[in-house]
Amino acid sequence: MSSWVRRRFHAAYERLLRREISGAPTHVAVIQDGNRRYADRQGADAPDGHRAGAQTTERVLDWCKDMGVEELTLYAFSTENFDRPDHEREALFDLLEEKLYEFGDDDRVHDGEVRIRVIGDEGMLPDRVREAVAYAERRTADYEEFTLNVALAYGGRNELLSAARDVARDVESGDLAAEEIDVAEIERRLYDDSLRDVDLIIRTGGDERTSNFLPWHANGNEAAVFFCTPYWPEFSKVDFLRAVRTYESREESWRRTKVERALALVKAVGGVELDEARGVIEKFRDKLPEGTSVEELEAEETAE
Ligand code: FPP
Ligand code: MG
Repeated sequence: MSSWVRRRFHAAYERLLRREISGAPTHVAVIQDGNRRYADRQGADAPDGHRAGAQTTERVLDWCKDMGVEELTLYAFSTENFDRPDHEREALFDLLEEKLYEFGDDDRVHDGEVRIRVIGDEGMLPDRVREAVAYAERRTADYEEFTLNVALAYGGRNELLSAARDVARDVESGDLAAEEIDVAEIERRLYDDSLRDVDLIIRTGGDERTSNFLPWHANGNEAAVFFCTPYWPEFSKVDFLRAVRTYESREESWRRTKVERALALVKAVGGVELDEARGVIEKFRDKLPEGTSVEELEAEETAE
């Protein structure tokens, strides 16, 4: 295919995907994988791959804002990444430092009221990166329009472990009763200001795993997951739209299942459950997939 034809094809496909997508996920989390393989394929070094990846990151931030996403979380440096060779690790810290200062000063960030915050074990990061983190966070602290979380020195299990230790300490000291431990208690201990539940995880680079990323907020919410093969630097708008479409169709099938279950419950039981089931039906009445109605589902249910 010539590059002109390919471009036209991509533009048409992008339009088609846009039409198919009716509502965006609120919180998207991205595992930006494949930077070194991309660099290797170009005969370049790992740091060049990370720099190329950072350009994709900026594009994705724009796409998210355009699409109505409200929160984006980027896996930028895991606790395992500390084991990378010195030259790569230091170059990555240089890049992250540079980007955090850039974001902190960027007109697009201020015009779009993007709040930047870092999640992870900041104490493990070099001072220069921590200073850049503090700068970006301070300059954007009052914004609420969009949240950009950058996961640095991040490990999902570590995060859960420290919340568990914190809870145990409070129970031991008598400040908290074991029966009082609930979702809100754990969330309060995970971050000063809580993250939204994750609706969609995207992973590039071909590996189909979620690598200890946001276990509480993504797995707890049964986030939709979109794995794709392009390396992060070549992740395109079309790939992004396909990811959003995956989320959309999962949501639609979920809504349908919930209504179907509620209808079955209405028929089978009475009392409290009946009220609850009717509540579910009312809640989803306007949100069913196009061309489906509660009455139609009810008829299907009765016919079974
Ligand atoms: C994984 O690819 C990528 C990383 C470890 C670094 C991700 C960081 C960026 C893209 C920098 C931009 C971030 C911000 C916040 C601006 P890999 O190195 O594992 O590549 P491979 O899978 O091909 O080995
Ligand atoms: Mg990798």
